[in-house]
Amino acid sequence: MQDLESHETSGLLNKQSSTSQTQPQRRAVALTIVVALVATTALVNLVPSGRGGGLRATRLEVGAAAADDDAASVATGSAAAVTDSTVKAGSAPAAGASLQDKFAAAFQSILDEEATAWDCAFSVAVKTEGESAALTAGVIDKATGATGKPSDVWAWGSVTKPLTGAQVLHLADEGKFDLDDAAAPIIDEYIQNIAQQQGDAWNFTWTSLEELFQNASVNDITIRQLLAMQAPIPDFDTGGLRDYLASGKSGTAWQVLDSVKDAYPLTPLQYSSTNFVLLGMIVAHFADGLPLEETDQAYYLPSHLKSQLHFGQNGQTASEWTDVKFYDRTAGKAGEVRHDEWSEKPGIFIGWGASDLAASVPVVAELFYEIYGAQTVTKQVDEMLKFHHDPVWGYEYGLATMSAGVPGIPMYGHGGDTYGAESQAHYSPVLKASVVVASNVEIPHESQTKYVNCMAWAALVKTMTPLAHSIRESCNDIGNTVPRDLYRDQNLRKASN
Ligand SMILES: *[C@@H]1O[C@H](CO)[C@@H](O)[C@H](O)[C@H]1NC(C)=O
Ligand SMILES: *[C@@H]1O[C@H](CO)[C@@H](O)[C@H](O)[C@H]1NC(C)=O
Repeated sequence: MQDLESHETSGLLNKQSSTSQTQPQRRAVALTIVVALVATTALVNLVPSGRGGGLRATRLEVGAAAADDDAASVATGSAAAVTDSTVKAGSAPAAGASLQDKFAAAFQSILDEEATAWDCAFSVAVKTEGESAALTAGVIDKATGATGKPSDVWAWGSVTKPLTGAQVLHLADEGKFDLDDAAAPIIDEYIQNIAQQQGDAWNFTWTSLEELFQNASVNDITIRQLLAMQAPIPDFDTGGLRDYLASGKSGTAWQVLDSVKDAYPLTPLQYSSTNFVLLGMIVAHFADGLPLEETDQAYYLPSHLKSQLHFGQNGQTASEWTDVKFYDRTAGKAGEVRHDEWSEKPGIFIGWGASDLAASVPVVAELFYEIYGAQTVTKQVDEMLKFHHDPVWGYEYGLATMSAGVPGIPMYGHGGDTYGAESQAHYSPVLKASVVVASNVEIPHESQTKYVNCMAWAALVKTMTPLAHSIRESCNDIGNTVPRDLYRDQNLRKASN
């Protein structure tokens, strides 16, 4: 763990606040949503999806400037063969068709093209009150050429956070504590229970947050501040960690906490996944009190969902649950594009409570519908939606929730990003639907999931109205940045050669 510690620390020291993450009525609403989708471009492009967005954004400049081995083919490639799939997808299914049929008619051909363009697999799911839809496209394993199916399990990264956060709010609903109560007394009790169970196996010099961070101010941090990313708990998820985990090593949440102790307090207050490791301990303490690797991390979720959620909490790799491979195409040292594949590395689930969820895309669509739409996990969704502007990252964060909406047109959920996998999971109270997108490639800025996510929403609007909007044009500016050109357009050109 010494390794993890030193990588972590150097990562933290390097981390600067660098980043800047009735029919007519219905028709009007739909139009507004599409307009909003376009209007949110700038915002969406800035939102860090969860892990180290700022660091990756910095690295992107490196990657863009450096000549990776594909750069030459960009320069010499033939003209991009981008077609507007809405032309092909225009024939409307019969009235009374299922959401699945309508969504497929509007979106399957676009999704197929995007899978080719980004050289990855996509899995997309929609959940409304009475219906659902799911589509897949692309190759989940480049070695075998296997294609995906909706039931495939994916690694979700920070999409884990609303799940942990909503359960903390559930406990507040039950009167176990107030959101404005201090977090340390509860977390310390959990730590001490586990340390006691472990006896001589407990390897740490601390059994409380104050002992860990050597600063009594940690006792003032409230549960709400942890949920809102407004606590000075340092983020474990920083630059050097990727190299360490890429070697196949991993670590427990106890080691993760130990590795950030010297960086306390984090200033300015900003996004930190470590907050959700601590929040997970609050859930575990009240749920079953079991150790990290045994506790039911979905303890307070409806049973039909619980059985379909997995957690990489005990050294598991993604391959335990899925044939999907996860391709890391971020910029590595010297600006080279990495070619790591993460399905056999337990580090894909580093961040117990913060980023260790594994589940299928339709299940996550259902999860987000339950949390934000049906509101079956906590009654205090309105608390989750009290957004503040984060001056460091320049995005809006509530409690365990990111805003993807614009004033007057709410849309919220969370981005998810872990090694080799990127995802978006949101709910729209206007459309009363959740839309979730996952891809098995990790690239800077998550441009592929942002673009496909926007088009999935525009396609959903198409299934609800006779609106003649072009799905592509509605999202033209989303993700249309340097990485889109680097990754999407060059792949398209290669594919058309
Ligand atoms: C404590 O450290 C030893 C030796 O490094 C290791 O084998 C053991 O698994 C550790 N125990 C725990 C609970 O982490
Ligand atoms: C302890 O934390 C407080 C607030 O978080 C900070 O102002 C103070 O400098 C810290 N003390 C030390 C010794 O780091």
